[in-house]
Amino acid sequence: MTVARLTTQHFRNLSSTAIDFHPKLNFFVGDNGSGKSSLLEALFYLGHGKSFRTSKTDSLVCYEKNTFVVSVKNGQGSQLGLSRDINSGLTSIKIDGERYARLSELAKNIAIQIVTPESFKLFFGGPKERRRFTDLGMFHVKHNFSSQWRNFARVLKQRNACIRSNVDDTTLTYWTEQFCQHSLVVAEERRVYIEDLIVELKVWLAILLPAISENVTVQYLQGWPQKKALADVLNTNKERETSFGYSLYGAHKFDVKFLLKKQAIETQLSRGQQKLFLLALTFAQAKLIARVNRVKPILLIDDIGAELDTTSRTVLSSAIDFLNCQVIITAIEHNVLHPFVEHTCANEYKVFHVKHGEIIPTTLYPDAMKSE
Ligand SMILES: Nc1ncnc2c1ncn2[C@@H]1O[C@H](COP(=O)(O)OP(=O)(O)O)[C@@H](O)[C@H]1O
Ligand SMILES: [Mg+2]
Repeated sequence: MTVARLTTQHFRNLSSTAIDFHPKLNFFVGDNGSGKSSLLEALFYLGHGKSFRTSKTDSLVCYEKNTFVVSVKNGQGSQLGLSRDINSGLTSIKIDGERYARLSELAKNIAIQIVTPESFKLFFGGPKERRRFTDLGMFHVKHNFSSQWRNFARVLKQRNACIRSNVDDTTLTYWTEQFCQHSLVVAEERRVYIEDLIVELKVWLAILLPAISENVTVQYLQGWPQKKALADVLNTNKERETSFGYSLYGAHKFDVKFLLKKQAIETQLSRGQQKLFLLALTFAQAKLIARVNRVKPILLIDDIGAELDTTSRTVLSSAIDFLNCQVIITAIEHNVLHPFVEHTCANEYKVFHVKHGEIIPTTLYPDAMKSE
């Protein structure tokens, strides 16, 4: 889907108004603290059931209010909505007027990916974010993956409980066998997905970072030593697992590493290049999501000017053109957006001004136009 209209009520500092989006490109420009990231956060919340910047849902509701509401209408007129009451802790979800209990129902309908100025630090900072990134793509691309993952997670929980409670050998052996089987299923699905992602990544690197694209390699680490059977690894590490109290190996420990000439990419690239690399990967994932034709990916880029010079923003603008998805971009200043609109007709994008939580449709460079 594309977001045609977003409505928010009491979400952070955003005023309770509706915003009509362009199906392709949307720019939100405003000073620090005006509400730009809050706007992206509202959309992200709808797609993920959580924020990208806090785990405390209560901090999302406007000060001195108790409930926030976020809803979107898509290009075909379908409506997704969510409200959260912080007093009762209840979240209510509605899709086309029908109530649903699980947030994942919303996620099935909307695929939102975000790149913020912090994203590349988180992504290259540790496996947790890389796992989150990959699993989001898998959720949208491989429709069996959610149930495969849920089954795996259930077994992992059981096995961890067994390790902690020192159960008899027969029970632990049973859960270890189950754990190995489910790990293999999940790891194989991921391996195939990551192979596809690598092919697509090369396409986007050739556009965004042509100087390095040829020398990038990707390593998929399945969560236990590559050439060993998981059962053997677990057997050898029985005592270590008992002292840690949880499963040290398995599909939950997977990682994806990116190398440039065999060295970790983050040690080789500048911050701006790392950001472009993550954008290339995000675009690659968006293409895989678009290809399965269930949901159309929507891409949010917060503070586009951060770390990116004019040349980088120019190549990024061609990449966005080529991506052909709905993109929502925030910026502190209008001039940062120049490369994105230079070759684009004014009716192919929308610009909004964000001020104290109010969002007003505007034109690019409104001050310059006033003085003409
Ligand atoms: N729960 C809340 N209720 C009301 N205002 C909030 C809440 N949380 C944050 N704010 C305020 O919202 C403003 C907008 O923040 P943000 O969206 O991060 O701005 P921007 O991305 O434009 O720099 C900030 O001034 C912040 O103090
Ligand atoms: Mg911000």
